[in-house]
Amino acid sequence: MGNCWCGWEPSVYRVSSNAKSEQSPSVRERKEDSKLPSNPEEVEDLRRDSATNPLIAFTFNELKIITGNFRHDRVLGGGGFGSVYKGFISEDLREGLPPIPVAVKVHDGDNSHQGHREWLAEVIFLGQLSHPNLVKLIGYCCEDQQRVLIYEYMARGSVENNLFSRVLLPLPWSIRMKIAFGAAKGLAFLHEAEKPVIYRDFKTSNILLDLDYNAKLSDFGLAKDGPVGDKSHVSTRIMGTYGYAAPEYIMTGHLTPRSDVYSYGVVLLELLTGRKSLDKSRPAREQNLTDWALPLLKEKKKLLNIIDPRLEGDYPIKGVNKAAMLAYHCLNRNPKARPLMRDIVDSLEPLQVSTEVSTEKTMPTVIIEVPNAELKRKEDA
Ligand SMILES: Nc1ncnc2c1ncn2[C@@H]1O[C@H](COP(=O)(O)OP(=O)(O)OP(=O)(O)O)[C@@H](O)[C@H]1O
Ligand SMILES: [Mg+2]
Repeated sequence: MGNCWCGWEPSVYRVSSNAKSEQSPSVRERKEDSKLPSNPEEVEDLRRDSATNPLIAFTFNELKIITGNFRHDRVLGGGGFGSVYKGFISEDLREGLPPIPVAVKVHDGDNSHQGHREWLAEVIFLGQLSHPNLVKLIGYCCEDQQRVLIYEYMARGSVENNLFSRVLLPLPWSIRMKIAFGAAKGLAFLHEAEKPVIYRDFKTSNILLDLDYNAKLSDFGLAKDGPVGDKSHVSTRIMGTYGYAAPEYIMTGHLTPRSDVYSYGVVLLELLTGRKSLDKSRPAREQNLTDWALPLLKEKKKLLNIIDPRLEGDYPIKGVNKAAMLAYHCLNRNPKARPLMRDIVDSLEPLQVSTEVSTEKTMPTVIIEVPNAELKRKEDA
């Protein structure tokens, strides 16, 4: 799980700071609470102007059938808002729907204002956006106090699970570049949409992988409409994840698409080094990945010392240098000096190597599901 900030979840780092919000959140929250939908009709009313993707309103009883009554061994993972279960929609449950595996994210029953808002943000954003690098939202449940999201099932789970797993084989260089490319295309699409969207919570646990390692962004709970007209930024409460959030956003609450670019740079660093953005188990000066790695990215001789040792040198040096320089520019403290996501996509294109060969060679795949979300790869006999 990510180091998210949320006030009601002290065991993780998700906290909000309202220091820069224009209105006291308690006043604003009280006002907005009354606007939050409490049933599917009200959700669809809210979606009327923006909805381009049809979403299914599931009943809670249907979700019990889909998830085998939320069985423990169906848990795929857990985050700041609750647990995610694997489920299966069978033909006889919903006529007209093909039988498909799904992921069911159940928001914990704390009924917090923020939890409901994030649930709704996801329904609204993923109900209007569709792109091969965004996870598909199939439906939702809004019944009594239940707030649930039903997504397409991503067989390989999150990049976090794959990159930092102790049981999976290390991700080869080609797959890391494929993930970086796919995730960049997802962010570029958001930033270039007719009504631009800032994702705000870009991190390895929010990038999911299908069987072919296609990367898709999930978790739009913190997404925000980008600035419009001649505005340069939107002012928000400071929400996000330590280790990924851009320094100027943390200091001022001013959010721009370049804040996502900074977080993208952190994820690229994680892919290069195999280290987590924050790791308390490392020596003090290495705990913050960006602080530790940034000065080394420009030094070609030192660079190779920080590349993930689990790759065992199996990478193209030129490609490593280019990806490292890209991360370096994304992490510029001056947001205006960071590249646009579109430039990043263009720079990553030539770094793509055919993944077919390496996927076949290193990880012919059998996926075994184990409790708590780790997907194990096993060599085919
Ligand atoms: N559509 C999906 N398909 C397969 N697995 C999923 C899907 N959505 C989520 N998961 C799994 O559930 C885990 C938890 O997701 P969740 O978004 O709730 O938490 P998180 O990203 O770890 O933390 P945060 O609350 O900070 O976002 C993911 O890391 C992933 O392993
Ligand atoms: Mg998440």
